[in-house]
Amino acid sequence: MTNQRIPLIAGNWKMNLDHQQAIALVQKLAWSLKDANHDYKSAEVVVFPPFTDLRSIQTLIDADKLELGLGAQDLSKFDSGAYTGEISGAFLKKLDVKYVLVGHSERRQYHNETDEVIQAKTAAAFRHGLVPIICVGETLEQLENEGQSAVPIRQTLAALAGHEKLGDFVIAYEPVWAIGTGKVATAEEAASVAGKLRAAISEAFGSELAAATRILYGGSVKAVNVAGFLRSPEVDGVLVGGASLDAEEFSGIARFQKHLAL
Ligand code: 13P
Repeated sequence: MTNQRIPLIAGNWKMNLDHQQAIALVQKLAWSLKDANHDYKSAEVVVFPPFTDLRSIQTLIDADKLELGLGAQDLSKFDSGAYTGEISGAFLKKLDVKYVLVGHSERRQYHNETDEVIQAKTAAAFRHGLVPIICVGETLEQLENEGQSAVPIRQTLAALAGHEKLGDFVIAYEPVWAIGTGKVATAEEAASVAGKLRAAISEAFGSELAAATRILYGGSVKAVNVAGFLRSPEVDGVLVGGASLDAEEFSGIARFQKHLAL
């Protein structure tokens, strides 16, 4: 079962790059991966641009028959209607978006997204056939008060609770104190939390689902430290912020296998 979890290398651009810059970056990234004979079946590579870039990237992927995947950074919990500024999962699906980030810590922090909102957004992703990447992680204060795995477990179970049927989903463990700070969780810490998250999913939903669930690490991942995280059989990929804005660096992360032997 474990070997069915194809590593997922996800690049969250956050609020960076307009649609023209986006095209340039994706072209560079695709070239760099092609140059290195990247096997997308051994590591899936997905970019998460801002909404305004999605159509341009979709067109580029289509025209150049790229194997890169497309993701979105958020979606509405509603399907349509009078919700100014919101983006429906239905619109994302129409743009061939496969994955959608849900509950990123920046949404929790700056947009007051609660566990209830994140559960509803997860449901919206399931309704529209999108794969939610449910982001979980503790702040520095929570780390000090509750340790490293209590908060991510609580957030994961809250997002997955109350669905009639679970669709495909991915969990991304991103300690808030490691995002954009240059502070990185150790590979051992990431593996330990991923293992505990898998155990909690197993307890709540059964061992088969737990064994099939991909759990990513995110927070200051770079080409030089990626292999450490992915060496653990518990960590099935990475969610990369800053380093995904540099085509060469992100391509180096996607080609993590070359570092594994070192
Ligand atoms: P950095 O890689 O810039 O720390 O960001 C991580 C992140 O938040 C990805 O979603």
